[in-house]
Amino acid sequence: MSQTASRFFFGTNLKMHQTAAETRQFLAELKTAVPEGLPVQLFVIPPFTSLPGLRDLAGPAGMWVGAQNMHWAPAGAFTGEISAPMLTSLGVDLVMLGHAERRRWAHETDQELQKKVNAALGAGLRVLLCVGEAAFEKECGAGCATVERQLHVNLHDVPPSNCDRLLIAYEPVWSIGEAGTPAIVGEVAPVIGRIRATLCRLFGAVGQRIPVLYGGSVNLENCRVYAAMTALDGLFVGRAAWTATGFAGVLAEALHSRKEGLPQ
Ligand code: PGA
Repeated sequence: MSQTASRFFFGTNLKMHQTAAETRQFLAELKTAVPEGLPVQLFVIPPFTSLPGLRDLAGPAGMWVGAQNMHWAPAGAFTGEISAPMLTSLGVDLVMLGHAERRRWAHETDQELQKKVNAALGAGLRVLLCVGEAAFEKECGAGCATVERQLHVNLHDVPPSNCDRLLIAYEPVWSIGEAGTPAIVGEVAPVIGRIRATLCRLFGAVGQRIPVLYGGSVNLENCRVYAAMTALDGLFVGRAAWTATGFAGVLAEALHSRKEGLPQ
């Protein structure tokens, strides 16, 4: 079981949705919809264009603001890219790296992600590293092996002293988005176990404390099942949390289930 189980993480990736004004509105509504003082670390990951000034809105609730990607170089001839110093200058807390859609559509490789992870942690950012196997890898019985390989390569050279700013999201590619199939506990549990074992092998005792979240078609109906898994430290939600009502609803269900499921 994870040593971080008492601390629950809950957040959403807005993908390519919302203008800057819409994200400000979303956060304002969240402030009303989500009760103060919950035992949870919230985070929201909007498009780059929504990031300026967002820290001031998110700050009072303790919500982390994250970016959806960054380049590994601090500056340079990389047209269309965003660097870690650009993010930290906006007060961004966290960067998500390796989301399945970026691995697919932007052809991000594990080796590039290794450079990004190290650059982000080196710049003082938190990193939410997404890992997960594709449908065919699962069919071949290579789900755990795929995720283990991603962790080995993506986290290569990360010093254990930086692990307190590292979070992992397990998101099976086949479960993400409109076309995704929600995973059952029996599919999630073995991979989470392998992730924890790999983190401990890579980082020793520190690996036990790295939060491991689950994401992929999490919604109001199924969130209780995932939240009750004590090996998980949080949920990473897409579509179901893109409105304040949706976000607050899934969060409330998850925390309720968590409270019931956790050993007293
Ligand atoms: P989804 O997205 O919840 O809409 O499947 C999850 C994700 O891509 O992180």
